[in-house]
Amino acid sequence: MTTSIDNDIGEVIFTTDEISAAVKRLAAQINRDYKDKNLLLVSVLKGAVVFLSDLMREINISCSIDFMAVSSYGKHQESSGIVKITKDLDINLTGYDVLLVEDILDSGNTLQYLTVLLESRKPASLKVCTLLDKPERREALVVPDYIGLKVPNSFIVGYGLDYYEKYRNLPYIGVLKREVYEKLSE
Ligand code: IMP
Ligand code: MG
Repeated sequence: MTTSIDNDIGEVIFTTDEISAAVKRLAAQINRDYKDKNLLLVSVLKGAVVFLSDLMREINISCSIDFMAVSSYGKHQESSGIVKITKDLDINLTGYDVLLVEDILDSGNTLQYLTVLLESRKPASLKVCTLLDKPERREALVVPDYIGLKVPNSFIVGYGLDYYEKYRNLPYIGVLKREVYEKLSE
């Protein structure tokens, strides 16, 4: 017998429909702002892949995509800001209007590191789009250009976001039940 991962979710924060509406709204802004630009969507593995794959299919102007992977030292639920690149971009940023696509902006440490790094490669322009913003926990001064949805100060999973590499496949965003945390972190 298999148990659905839905059973591990205590509270739904955003439904699939709410996420979809936010993605469409962001794409409409991007379509307008990048009409005459050379758009390159840069996404950070792994959390942002679900968002990127939905967002790019709502974008109706010419664009390219590329990926980076980073690991952040620190505890599983927090990032330290000491970021290590484990997979770099394939594309040279010269001449591209880069839009960094992130799943969630929490402390801001990861995004601050990445924006400084990408800016140093001299793209034509650099902006940041995050699906989720958890403003209460901000440490670094990063102001995203596009924000999908604001989330409360709790650890959330689904739609790409994980807890110990699980729950990324949940099509909505929710908070895990306390007993699941306690079991998995033992
Ligand atoms: P920051 O550097 O603290 O802004 O954290 C950025 C990264 O931490 C995100 O890209 C996520 O991978 C992860 N993260 C932050 N908050 C959450 C959460 O509530 N659930 C799952 N992952 C999170
Ligand atoms: Mg991430």
